[in-house]
Amino acid sequence: MSKQPIGIFDSGVGGTSIWKEMHLCLPLESSIYLADSLNAPYGQKGKDKIIELSIKNTEFLLNKNCKLIVIACNTATTNAISVLREKYNVPIIGIEPAIKPAALNTQTKAIGILATKGTLSSALFHNTSNLYSNGITIVEQVGQGIVELIETGNYESIEMEMLLKSYLKPMLEANIDYLVLGCTHYPYLIPMLTKLLPNHVKIIDSGLAVAKQTKAVLEQHNLLNAETLKPKNKFYINLKNTEVMQSLLGDTFYVDYLEF
Ligand code: DGL
Repeated sequence: MSKQPIGIFDSGVGGTSIWKEMHLCLPLESSIYLADSLNAPYGQKGKDKIIELSIKNTEFLLNKNCKLIVIACNTATTNAISVLREKYNVPIIGIEPAIKPAALNTQTKAIGILATKGTLSSALFHNTSNLYSNGITIVEQVGQGIVELIETGNYESIEMEMLLKSYLKPMLEANIDYLVLGCTHYPYLIPMLTKLLPNHVKIIDSGLAVAKQTKAVLEQHNLLNAETLKPKNKFYINLKNTEVMQSLLGDTFYVDYLEF
């Protein structure tokens, strides 16, 4: 069982930002990454549809004998993780916006959170947000249109810059000192966000935390791969245009088109 791959899925190419953290933390693990780009963005869909797509992705990965599933998507996690955990026996790791470290460390008592509509309107997000909002202003912003631009490779475009400027404006007016990236596509915006934000605003995402949590859960379940042979990492996307995902991953890993 421990030799089997880790399964990881996202609504599209964004979860590769999580996969990269995982690969650094767990270099001996094999993995299968599923990008459901045909159905991206999930963030505008209703809860039932997000659950249906998350079940489809999980079953694909379980049919490939994955030993553990990582939901590399805040929207799918916040809407579907409890259903998936109830339905399947393998360990399932999710990702949620890192409100806690931002709320605990803010000096200005104001933090910003950029995420999809699906994440910000979920009960799971509300529960976490309520836990840490005491005495703090949390400026929530839906990142409408961002995922689409990243999916089409336009993450360094003028359009993106205009969108980000408009989304950051209310946050800067509230004097935030932390910006929480609540979508796994958004780490690809860090270079542009760093340019647009004043120096004292820190940007945080949940990638490293998810990688560490995955390692801890594999250890707990005795599922860490003990073999030192070169692991296999496979990447599937259900769009014929594999270029964007390929460029995000670099040349070392090959992206395959697959209908699913
Ligand atoms: N990467 C997904 C997330 O973390 C993007 C959601 C979407 O497809 O809208 O939320």
